[in-house]
Amino acid sequence: MKNNYFNLINQSYYFPQEGFDLRNDYLTFHGFSLKYLIDKYGTPFKLTFLPRIGDQIKKAKNLFNKAIKANNYKGEYFYCYCTKCCHFNHVINEALNHNVHLETSSSFDIDLIQKLYQKGKITKNIQLIHNGHKTDDYLRKIIALIDEGFTNVIPVLDSKKELDRLYENTKDELTIGIRMAINEEPQSAYYTSRLGIRSAEIIDFYKQKIARKKRVKLKMLHFFVDSGIKDTLYYWGEFRKALKIFADLKKICPTLDSINLGGGLPIRNNLGFEYDYKYMINEIVRNIKEVCESEGIAEPNIYTEFGKYTVGESGATIFSVLEQKQQNDSELWYLIDNSLMNTIPDSWSIFEKFILLPVNKWKNEYSQVNIGGISCDHSDYYNSEDLNQQTVLPRFHDDDEEPLYLGFFHTGAYQDAISGYGGIKHCLIPSPKHIIVDRDETGNYIDYVYRGQQSVNEMLEILGYE
Ligand SMILES: Cc1ncc(COP(=O)(O)O)c(C=O)c1O
Repeated sequence: MKNNYFNLINQSYYFPQEGFDLRNDYLTFHGFSLKYLIDKYGTPFKLTFLPRIGDQIKKAKNLFNKAIKANNYKGEYFYCYCTKCCHFNHVINEALNHNVHLETSSSFDIDLIQKLYQKGKITKNIQLIHNGHKTDDYLRKIIALIDEGFTNVIPVLDSKKELDRLYENTKDELTIGIRMAINEEPQSAYYTSRLGIRSAEIIDFYKQKIARKKRVKLKMLHFFVDSGIKDTLYYWGEFRKALKIFADLKKICPTLDSINLGGGLPIRNNLGFEYDYKYMINEIVRNIKEVCESEGIAEPNIYTEFGKYTVGESGATIFSVLEQKQQNDSELWYLIDNSLMNTIPDSWSIFEKFILLPVNKWKNEYSQVNIGGISCDHSDYYNSEDLNQQTVLPRFHDDDEEPLYLGFFHTGAYQDAISGYGGIKHCLIPSPKHIIVDRDETGNYIDYVYRGQQSVNEMLEILGYE
């Protein structure tokens, strides 16, 4: 059998698999031709495949609702989208089309909520969960939402001090949540998260401070295990600890009726990814029910704030290889037409892995390569995958008619905010164009440029030259 790239992938993983297939030897993403987009728009480009967002939301809602039914669970499930993951209007609109509620993390988020309301995208009944440190500005805007008649505004106390500040600036009934600080995984750089209130202090804080304020109603206990929802001793340990605190609180606080798990549902970052969403979601519901039964308390409503899960798999970043360089006997570099640090910053800052696949030349032989960006930074490279200490890609010849095209997939979460979309870029390498694929009213795919490649004037203006 020929030692080609297709055979390698086919033997190593299930291929084709959800979201990835070949059509006429070119890779498709969620059934959509990347070759068509490359021919139409040229590389490099960022891609947002909007329909994936709705599919993800439907899948999680479905699994929670099925688990609720299967366990004869009495509470309801609420899917909130955490805006910090990707704030774009088109992304939030797509999520709202699937009836999500929203979670915010800072002051400007509230302006975004106001805009959505003005545009008729949300009503005043939407559930709004306000996490994060409450600066004066953020707090003032949350209170303004309550004063304007938004009926489900739930500020979640990130610290004990936020209670008095909220109380002093409101007159009517105030519905709040408490975020419980979790203990991090053993390999973490610190032991307890700075986010939230120490678990050991929550009950006392409730008794001493919240219970004495007649117009304050504690509704929600929030805890987010930020290393993700995983079937590990650590995750279930933190989970059960939070449930115990929930149960103890519930016994003295009748208004407490909701538990919020935050985000952390994972996405595929390698082709061998195996995560049993159905099992994990069922275990979450079953565990909550079990604790409630043994503690003799009512089963709470369950909230989640899945960010990466909602939008991650909708994103891709497509490059051409500009040049190959054999820098020593064993190291071959493929230089791409932008910077990895600028476009997928998590790949160098927190060593996040994305699915990397060629778009073409699947029938070529392959070899181990290092991928390099065109910034001058030595950190601007990518050379290992989630399940692999190396990156392997098809070989090509310098005189090939068509360059090798590469895609990093499932890049839809956080990368734009972290890289400062449209701002100053390392080595002044411009942000690539941004293409959106959506469906029209008849269900057919449409594609368009959301924003062209960043222009020199845009960058020079920020720098004070224009
Ligand atoms: C409070 C809160 N909720 C939800 C999320 C979303 O997490 P993820 O993208 O892992 O789902 C975050 C992420 O930082 C968060 O801080």
